[in-house]
Amino acid sequence: METHVFSIILAAGEGTRMRSKKPKVLHQICGCPIIEYVVRAACEVSDDLPVVVVGHKSEEIKQYLGERVRYAYQPQPLGTGHAVMMAKSVLKDAAGYVVILAGDVPLIRGSTLQQMVQHAVLGGYGAVVLSAVVDDPTGYGRIIRNERGDLERIVEHKDATEEQQQIKEINSSVYCFDTQLLFSCLDKLDNRNSQGEYYLTDVIEIMRRQGAKVGVLMAQDADEVLGINNRIQLAEVDRKMRLRINKAHMEKGVTIVDPEHTYIGPDVVIGCDTVIYPGNVLEGNTAIGEDCVLYPNNRIVNSTIGNGVQLQASVILDSCIGDATTVGPYAYLRPGSVIGSGVRIGDFVEIKNSIVGDGTKVSHLTYVGDAEVGKDVNVGCGVVFVNYDGVKKHKTVVEDKAFIGCNVNLVAPVRVGQQAYIAAGSTITEDVPAKALAIARERQINKEGWVERRQQKMQDAQSHK
Ligand code: UD1
Ligand code: CA
Repeated sequence: METHVFSIILAAGEGTRMRSKKPKVLHQICGCPIIEYVVRAACEVSDDLPVVVVGHKSEEIKQYLGERVRYAYQPQPLGTGHAVMMAKSVLKDAAGYVVILAGDVPLIRGSTLQQMVQHAVLGGYGAVVLSAVVDDPTGYGRIIRNERGDLERIVEHKDATEEQQQIKEINSSVYCFDTQLLFSCLDKLDNRNSQGEYYLTDVIEIMRRQGAKVGVLMAQDADEVLGINNRIQLAEVDRKMRLRINKAHMEKGVTIVDPEHTYIGPDVVIGCDTVIYPGNVLEGNTAIGEDCVLYPNNRIVNSTIGNGVQLQASVILDSCIGDATTVGPYAYLRPGSVIGSGVRIGDFVEIKNSIVGDGTKVSHLTYVGDAEVGKDVNVGCGVVFVNYDGVKKHKTVVEDKAFIGCNVNLVAPVRVGQQAYIAAGSTITEDVPAKALAIARERQINKEGWVERRQQKMQDAQSHK
């Protein structure tokens, strides 16, 4: 296609129906802000950076989107038509087509936008509106067609007659316009309607009266046009996006036991033959290998998991896990944990900013912080890597094949040499040489007959009363 394509995303509205302190388009579905999905779809069709019209809480939206888009500012939410007028200064010299999207319609696909542009270009349309037929059209603008079935105009729900309200074909708020024709028609908009707003939808009738060709493209998948205006719709669209994402993984060979209750973000990658049980939440740039089993209720954020890993009811943040390692139940891997292959991280183990080598076992009730733990190390139950002196964090090194007994404190900075043993209950404050045994606790004293002697004492005291 020779034509240059621009895009505008409208996101200046107040989103009052959300009843939120946060701008509507920054509410999340599947772990990403609503507007993220719209920007990505726009980028698939747009030859230039999309222009986002911001107004209400604009700083928060700009902070999130950054330099990936250009901005236009609408000081007051005077309507969707007025919002597009605000983008005129940015696109004043733009020749070609412009795709307009609402920031609150995240299920829209880039391929649908491409179809719209193609339809507009091939048919010589001044405007193409994306419509859909929905069961409940309440609140949406209705597509009014003439007796030949051609698009006449769009009537907003609040301005529609009872008869028009029966129409189930709705305006999606996604359009493809001839850019300069659009800008010239915007000047002719007025706000004489029930909401006192400048409606972008009125441009259709203005164009048609001017003799331009206006048309409708009906979405094959009506879900694509669902807008989010309140929290109920937020939950509905979230569910649809969730199922869309989960289906794509299933098609690529991932078993998702219950797709309704598995929460996977749009950028997560999962290998073939991995099985995912309900209650898993996978977020951000997470990559899961092949043949893994994610038993119920893990939360994994921005982490890389190898092949054949088994995870159970654990939280894994900004970390890396090697092949054939098992984690959980109830393990907490905090940012910066790099876990090797064939490792066992057991129940109630917390690891922070630490490297754990291949084949090492940290099986129960242990805290590992700011440490470098070698290969084939055995960390007993209830070990604490004491990394904080109240002011600074310090590092602990445990070399390969060391054996740390149960209930040991390793007070950092400290180093435990290769194959060294540490006796259970020791508080280690000094380095342990390779192959040594360190015992750092009081020697045991057994006081023979102590109980009887005490009983005798108590009896004596009683009889002297
Ligand atoms: C709009 C359409 C309606 C369509 C529906 C689809 C108009 C007049 N109506 O109605 O035909 O069926 O979307 O979801 O266009 N916005 C601004 N500035 C404003 C007003 C709105 O930027 O002054 C933005 C909002 O932030 C939002 C988008 O435009 O992202 C749509 O606005 P909204 O108020 O949700 O319009 P609807 O009433 O849903
Ligand atoms: Ca809307």
